[in-house]
Amino acid sequence: MPKSDNSSTLAGDGAERLVVANWKMNGSAAQNGDFFAALQSNLANASCHSLVRTVICPPFVYLREVAQALDDSGLELGAQDVSVHDSGAYTGEISAQMLLDASCQWVIVGHSERRQYHAESSEITAAKARQAIAHGLRPIVCVGESLEDHRSGRTLDVIESQLAPVWELGANAVRSLVVAYEPVWAIGSGLTATPEEAQKVHAHIRSLAQANNCASMPLLYGGSVKADNASGLFAMQDIDGALVGGASLDPREFASIITAE
Ligand code: PGA
Repeated sequence: MPKSDNSSTLAGDGAERLVVANWKMNGSAAQNGDFFAALQSNLANASCHSLVRTVICPPFVYLREVAQALDDSGLELGAQDVSVHDSGAYTGEISAQMLLDASCQWVIVGHSERRQYHAESSEITAAKARQAIAHGLRPIVCVGESLEDHRSGRTLDVIESQLAPVWELGANAVRSLVVAYEPVWAIGSGLTATPEEAQKVHAHIRSLAQANNCASMPLLYGGSVKADNASGLFAMQDIDGALVGGASLDPREFASIITAE
């Protein structure tokens, strides 16, 4: 299994890499055990980037069983969403404390599918990030432009406006978070930003992070990351890892992404 130092820091300086599996609404009690057995055997003899950290984000109901499967594996556990509230009458919501109870260390917030299907704004996303950080979870804040914005050359403006409420959380909070740039047009579509296109956006996010006193914030790329394009993306200066959807459901493919050069 890949090495994980389990430290609370993860520098966005290219020294460490973070690979995050976003299972979305996939997986089943029957399949999950097979997945980890296959992942483990694919990783067993593979050599990989020396400091790769891998996080698995299954649906809420599988968090506990995945936590058990990950025990002693060096892999870490994350959730796909968190409530902005501590507790109370919020049917269907899951609190940060509940995620801690389920052994999560990470949580994805502001995924484009949450923004699109649940009308989550950038302000709500930042509030979720704040709630996660307040409980010692590390949020992975997703940003990304639509195809229309991409075609009309508005990518950097969209990213800036999505991140604006995040910087307002303050440098101390922001130092605990990770940003994932996921162009909406690349998610699940088989279309990927080229490494150079992605790097351009990442460099812009890095400059925004720098202006907010957290230049070393880890920046992930997401959107149709696969075994055959991961190395090219990881070679870019400001790409510190990947948020992987579809390809994270295939243990062989996901192992190849984790172990990509
Ligand atoms: P994809 O999804 O890898 O299937 O494109 C990425 C994501 O939505 O996080």
